[in-house]
Amino acid sequence: MNTAHIPKIELHLHLEGAAPPAFIRGLAAEKGMDLSRIFTGDGGYAYRDFPHFLNVYEAATSVLTGPEEFARLTTAVLQESAAHGVIYTEAFLSPDFCGGGDLGAWREYLAAIREAAAQAEARDGIILRGIVTAIRHLGPDRAKPAALCAAETAGDFITGFGIAGDEMTGKLKEFTWSFDMAREAGLQITAHGGEWGGAASVWDAVKDLNVARIGHGVQAIEDPALVAHLAETGVVLECCPGSNVVLGVFPDWGSHPIEKLRAAGVKVTVSTDDPPFFHTTMTDEYDRLAETFGWDSGIFAEITKTALEAAFCDAATRETLTKKLELTP
Ligand code: HPA
Ligand code: ZN
Repeated sequence: MNTAHIPKIELHLHLEGAAPPAFIRGLAAEKGMDLSRIFTGDGGYAYRDFPHFLNVYEAATSVLTGPEEFARLTTAVLQESAAHGVIYTEAFLSPDFCGGGDLGAWREYLAAIREAAAQAEARDGIILRGIVTAIRHLGPDRAKPAALCAAETAGDFITGFGIAGDEMTGKLKEFTWSFDMAREAGLQITAHGGEWGGAASVWDAVKDLNVARIGHGVQAIEDPALVAHLAETGVVLECCPGSNVVLGVFPDWGSHPIEKLRAAGVKVTVSTDDPPFFHTTMTDEYDRLAETFGWDSGIFAEITKTALEAAFCDAATRETLTKKLELTP
């Protein structure tokens, strides 16, 4: 099956994490920054494990120091996504990386990202929406300005609020203030959980934050009662199997629980997370799912429908996407 041309909806993509290594290397060279430690000999990102990945991620991001650079990044990322058939994507955007939590600076970064997204939409038809994201290992106090940035810019483009970073640091409950602020501003909620912290961490996201979606969530498979709960309540999992396999959450594609979760009635979707870090694209994800689990065009259509329904966008955007999907044979 040629999956490159299947229209795709991606719900879990870290904007900085989608930066091509050559893009980051080029900017570092322009600024005279020595980032050679974060690259492999053949030009990819070099990291040992998840904590080191987060460290390399932040080092790579440190070269992106202004709105113009985020605009260039947005253009590059959306062009690549569109080439893989992505018609709609939601990107995690972090005020911590875009002005350090200062609202005025955040507005400038956001304006630049939006402008680049509007141009990409006009050129390639791809639609972008943003999920403002707190970084868990920076702690609850740093999440508060991020939540304020999210609340102040909530609207047709910033449609969600979430949390990423080191899931083994702190408890989600400590971030309630920020999630409440985001929710009160009308934002929809997702949280990374169940990538590293087991089923307990998925329960925390469900019970403590009442999330609509969970980033990863795949370790829910350890707890049959949780799998049943997710299936019953319709909480959507933003699964990123290639990311999980490369980071060693599961030893290989055959061991990844996405198919078991789907078969149990859990709403699963497919995304790339940080594609160049994990040597993946949406086409690669689809190809591996077809190879490993025999997913066919019917199952991919079902996944797309789930993602469309779970997208944090307004009704008009969902209608546009529905029409685009209907037009595709
Ligand atoms: N997991 C958690 N936090 C992250 C990731 C990830 O894969 N990428 C960027 N921040
Ligand atoms: Zn992620």
